Amino acid sequence: MELPPLLRRNVDRALSGVRLADLAAAAAALSQRYRDEHHDNELHVRSERDALAYLAVRLPATYAAVRASFAAVAQARPDFAPKTLLDVGAGPGTALWAAADCWPDIADAMLLEASSIFRSCGEALARGVELPRLSWRVADIATGAIDSPACDVVSLAYVLNELAPAVREQVLKRLWDVTADTLVIVEPGTPAGWERVLAARRQLIDAGAHVLAPCPHACACPLQEPDWCHFAERVARSRLHRLAKEAEVPWEDEKFSYVALSRTPAVVAAPRVIARPRKGSGRVTLKLCRSDGSAGETLFSRRDGNAFKRAWRSDWGSQIDLDTR
Ligand SMILES: C[S@@+](CC[C@H](N)C(=O)[O-])C[C@H]1O[C@@H](n2cnc3c(N)ncnc32)[C@H](O)[C@@H]1O
Repeated sequence: MELPPLLRRNVDRALSGVRLADLAAAAAALSQRYRDEHHDNELHVRSERDALAYLAVRLPATYAAVRASFAAVAQARPDFAPKTLLDVGAGPGTALWAAADCWPDIADAMLLEASSIFRSCGEALARGVELPRLSWRVADIATGAIDSPACDVVSLAYVLNELAPAVREQVLKRLWDVTADTLVIVEPGTPAGWERVLAARRQLIDAGAHVLAPCPHACACPLQEPDWCHFAERVARSRLHRLAKEAEVPWEDEKFSYVALSRTPAVVAAPRVIARPRKGSGRVTLKLCRSDGSAGETLFSRRDGNAFKRAWRSDWGSQIDLDTR
């Protein structure tokens, strides 16, 4: 997945003139802090240099994960046309760009972010671009009420892992209170990220939420450790992205876990492909999460006709309609 051209242009503009050595050092330190998952009450992005490193090496990946999660919501609810967005822990406005790309009817967006550095960076990226009407607020969601009217889409992307475990439940409760329709939570696609997503899913189902995606059911997750539910998006790396990471390949796979919970049930609840399909000559094996709450592998061969064709074309993360198998 690529960044939208205007976002790509504005990111490149923000990064022009930055010394590569500074960017690489900040990117390495930032990656280490994310890997360590420290909760020392300090934000990971602490300087303008950190924010620029985030733009160079993390934004393309978090954009891809959030955009794919929104696409899954749009697939589950094809008639959903949200008008308002609240993005919490907005960073440089990643979810705003993804939501505007997915749902062109969004007219108003509120972005809450604890870091004023990130907020200025996000404002600069959005300057001069036709986007929803924006309202940025510097706010610490761990300590206070969420000062926002209820919004059609509420997003929390790559933020739960930055909150102390003791405050997560309260933050989720407050987010659900300001969710007029759908809440989307995205986390890194690690076992720990999946655990955080599962805990949020359980809490909000108990509060009355319907699951839109990725699960085509609201039963307990059928996956057992050491397995975990996650997806991957292939992200194009810009030249600077490659240089800052000292990477050779022009792409990377961003692994992520997510859940979309709604006050409105899904229209489409077809099985979801939860691992990379395994293809052989005339056969394809899909690992599916099914609407009866089970998960497991299904083999499709040419004899399965249209179902085989659909299985062959499916991808990790997509839903597959097997009704006409
Ligand atoms: C990894 S970044 C994710 C940014 C953006 N959502 C994305 O997906 O690219 C996590 C963001 O959460 C913000 N954050 C962390 N704790 C917060 C808090 N208590 N209140 C508000 N924002 C917070 C950080 O400042 C940072 O911008």
